[in-house]
Amino acid sequence: MKSPVLIILHPSSFIPHPFSWSMDDQITKVTSVILEAEHLRKDFGGLIAVEDVSLRARAGSLHSIIGPNGAGKTTLFNLLSGVLKPTAGRVIFRGRDITPLPPHRIAHLGIGRSFQITNVFPNLTVLENVRLAAQAMGRDSLNLFAPAAHFHQYVEHAMRVVEQVGLHGKADLLASVLPHGDKRKLELGILLASDPQVLLLDEPTAGMASEQVPQLMALIADIRKQGNKTILLVEHNMDVVMNVSDAITVMHYGKVLAEGTPAQIAANEQVQKAYLGELYR
Ligand SMILES: Nc1ncnc2c1ncn2[C@@H]1O[C@H](COP(=O)(O)OP(=O)(O)OP(=O)(O)O)[C@@H](O)[C@H]1O
Ligand SMILES: [Mg+2]
Repeated sequence: MKSPVLIILHPSSFIPHPFSWSMDDQITKVTSVILEAEHLRKDFGGLIAVEDVSLRARAGSLHSIIGPNGAGKTTLFNLLSGVLKPTAGRVIFRGRDITPLPPHRIAHLGIGRSFQITNVFPNLTVLENVRLAAQAMGRDSLNLFAPAAHFHQYVEHAMRVVEQVGLHGKADLLASVLPHGDKRKLELGILLASDPQVLLLDEPTAGMASEQVPQLMALIADIRKQGNKTILLVEHNMDVVMNVSDAITVMHYGKVLAEGTPAQIAANEQVQKAYLGELYR
């Protein structure tokens, strides 16, 4: 027969720890924020392009950065992706300070970025452009003697990406002959080839015919959902921004003017004056 076991509970175990709820809250916050800018500043000589910018992108969200020309949006992306180093402040990715890392290390960690200007190899095919991007990020990117099987894996992966961005019928075309809208899809494909967790998209619809914009935005929404990706989007098309964003940060003269949901931003008087008013006038 087993001997009885007496368990004596300390009275304090019935009392909730005074900080327990806030600790949980903190943990939730830490885990759900994937990319964070902390008081970022970038000086170019006498010009302050980015000044005391803090923002938190939540994992899986679509977070737009808007603001007039010269507001500092592209500079902010350059800071987040390591292309530029801040004069002050930090960039935190998954709780880790990545500020000192070079851009290729940041890309390997899972932050992919597109550029405001179309950025593809014109004399390579659609498939080769995507395959090279996948290979460049792969483990044996520097190994010239990697087995042929690996090469086929990259080709297969690239094919899937080309299909995902809606260019399957054009995989063997030279990038140079693609219409502008397809080039922008290819840029997305090049970005997706390395399977980043966070995508920084700088005006992905720039220069596109307006009837093509909804298709590209549907593609971006799909990429985000399917891959559970976080997307930071710089975009001037306000209809697009208001439709697709979970959160919006408004920049003005290098600073954060406002942050909130699309409804909050649309109703914000300062934003109306500085930016939206002009656009909708
Ligand atoms: N490398 C650089 N050297 C000097 N000044 C720069 C540099 N890059 C950007 N700037 C300046 O910093 C400011 C912010 O530029 P940035 O390109 O970040 O703006 P933006 O919000 O992306 O504008 P746009 O909507 O026109 O793309 C501008 O005044 C710009 O002229
Ligand atoms: Mg820009």
